[in-house]
Amino acid sequence: MNRNNFNIKNMQQHIDTYDFNGKKAIVRVDFNVPIQDGKITDDTRIRGALPTLKLILEKGGSLIIMSHMGKPKGKVKPELSLSQIVDAVSEKLGVPVKFAPDCQKADELAAALKPGEALLLENLRFYPEEEGKPVGIDKEDPAYEAAKKAMKASQKEFAKKLASYADCWVMDAFGTAHRKHASTAVIADYFTPENRMLGLLMEKEVKAVNNVLSDIKRPFIAIMGGSKVSSKIGIIENLLGKVDKLILCGGMTYTFSKAHGGEIGESIVEMDKLDVALSVEAKAKENGVELIMAPDAVVTNGLDFGTMSLKPGAGVQVASARAIPAGFEGVDAGPEAQKLFADAIKGCKTILWNGPAGVFECDEFCAGSKAIGDAIAAATAEGAFSLIGGGDSVACCTKFGLTDKVSYISTGGGALLEAIEGKVLPGIAAVEG
Ligand code: 3PG
Repeated sequence: MNRNNFNIKNMQQHIDTYDFNGKKAIVRVDFNVPIQDGKITDDTRIRGALPTLKLILEKGGSLIIMSHMGKPKGKVKPELSLSQIVDAVSEKLGVPVKFAPDCQKADELAAALKPGEALLLENLRFYPEEEGKPVGIDKEDPAYEAAKKAMKASQKEFAKKLASYADCWVMDAFGTAHRKHASTAVIADYFTPENRMLGLLMEKEVKAVNNVLSDIKRPFIAIMGGSKVSSKIGIIENLLGKVDKLILCGGMTYTFSKAHGGEIGESIVEMDKLDVALSVEAKAKENGVELIMAPDAVVTNGLDFGTMSLKPGAGVQVASARAIPAGFEGVDAGPEAQKLFADAIKGCKTILWNGPAGVFECDEFCAGSKAIGDAIAAATAEGAFSLIGGGDSVACCTKFGLTDKVSYISTGGGALLEAIEGKVLPGIAAVEG
């Protein structure tokens, strides 16, 4: 396992000591925020980047802010335009932010920036070069390798263009640091190590990850939820080597029930991962990790996932997690499970939570996630370090009013999981050079 990427002492430059006076800084942030009807519904990521952006302005620098939003796959999609967030960013930053409608044609706007001014570039992913994947060609196509090579060359040009706007590059997009994209990694080649650095958010995130990776106070409990065991298996296996207790919850646990021959009705299941579930249990036993899963579940035969509401006449009941009636599906942890989870969290000194225990968006099925959140808040009040990551768990904290009652809410989803898995994050490695 490579831990170097979390040793930020390897960096040659530091944002606190860099002289930004009169300089232009191009800052990669993660402003991939949820928007509904033109309104930002969760601005955690924007708020997270503010300390870095404000510091640069205070030090007499000017800002070229760049981000992606969503997955436009190299096409211009107005609904993913960053123009929608200009007003919000201006208001939070306290200066009017200019907008460059084409991130590759921002020369004049960037050149005209005076100290204390800020410019936001349009969604980087409107260009396929940002991600650097060839478009419109199948991996099996014999011409794919040549297309990939050509795209890598265009990606360098794309990154070089972004770099040409500024004197230094600041990487502060923790949420996207697991991507080796033009703006998160390739751009590093166009700045000397003295002119590239991590932002303050990155430093905070790295510190929080280190709290659960190396500076562990025990007992250490991880709570992993979500619908698929396959998408979390890497981190689960890694955590089994570190934690004292592991709660698995949410849809993924029906795969475990099925692996033991349980009846799971219509609950979500990965039939090709039954062996994976059993091997997780075996590894937990081998490592002496207390593995906790819900003995009971709240089940329904009428949840409309489109509207996140119950259909008229829908049935809701509590069932054993291994005896869910036909036609019903598990949508939340049952009352027994809620107590079990809360008891397991109580007294722990390090807590990591990623993924809800049920369909928390629906008020009828959020009790399991709330029980977990409340128990984490109580343990934190008793001195535990709690790290919450992943969009859904963060949304749970917001929904239950717990954001100020946990130690740290990460802006990373996939990035946080990869960091905790011990993977090298390209966005950090690139700054180190
Ligand atoms: C996220 O939402 O996790 C980040 O913004 C990264 O987005 P991506 O998974 O589309 O790269």
